[in-house]
Amino acid sequence: MSNEWISRWREGRIGFHRQVEHPALVRHWPRLGVEEGAKVLVPLCGKSLDMRWLAAAGHPVLGIELASLAIEQFIAEGGESSRYRQGDFEIWRQGSIELWCGDFFHFHTQQAADLGAFYDRAALIALPEATRQRYAFHLAQLMPPGARGLLISLTRTPGDEAGPPYSVPADEVRALFGPNFEVAHLEDGEPEPNGWRESVWSLVRRGPRAGHGQGPGY
Ligand SMILES: C[S@@+](CC[C@H](N)C(=O)[O-])C[C@H]1O[C@@H](n2cnc3c(N)ncnc32)[C@H](O)[C@@H]1O
Repeated sequence: MSNEWISRWREGRIGFHRQVEHPALVRHWPRLGVEEGAKVLVPLCGKSLDMRWLAAAGHPVLGIELASLAIEQFIAEGGESSRYRQGDFEIWRQGSIELWCGDFFHFHTQQAADLGAFYDRAALIALPEATRQRYAFHLAQLMPPGARGLLISLTRTPGDEAGPPYSVPADEVRALFGPNFEVAHLEDGEPEPNGWRESVWSLVRRGPRAGHGQGPGY
């Protein structure tokens, strides 16, 4: 699957990319109660302009993206940047935005020490069912108790097995994140002509960290 994403970027098959920030981010983020200046993790970030919006709102941003082409395109559209390596990741920095090039599942808690929030638009729904389970657990491991996030998911009726994007119904969102996050449904978008419909969720990480054997969690 990772090669498939690299090919998509190389061939410009990136219909998911938006030319302006997502209206649900602009509408809901200010009301989520995210701590001022909290660093925001953006998993599977592509070259999303939402990261520039978050940075302009005063949040340092840490995006993780498999395709270096996506990161290069994002950086080319901004100002000065620097580049360095940490473990498995090549990292680009531009202002308060860091873009880590590599596999989200290889990004570990020690590297995530200063994260305080997250933003998922088209990350969960880019992954097949078995990987979504892994994704929700990994995100929980990276987020400290109390961390808040915004999730924008997608559904289509009838569901479609041949993603991405994958249809992830409300029940699945609750089942995936419920054990480690307080999950609140914020709104559903209008159905699009192609049958897809967006749903917006607020998530708050319950404490303590996943995998430490206490409280709610796996
Ligand atoms: C549907 S796109 C969404 C991008 C971005 N969130 C947006 O809203 O435009 C999914 C992105 O995830 C990247 N990706 C897929 N699997 C990944 C992984 N395991 N680790 C990091 N990035 C990944 C792909 O290269 C692609 O750019």
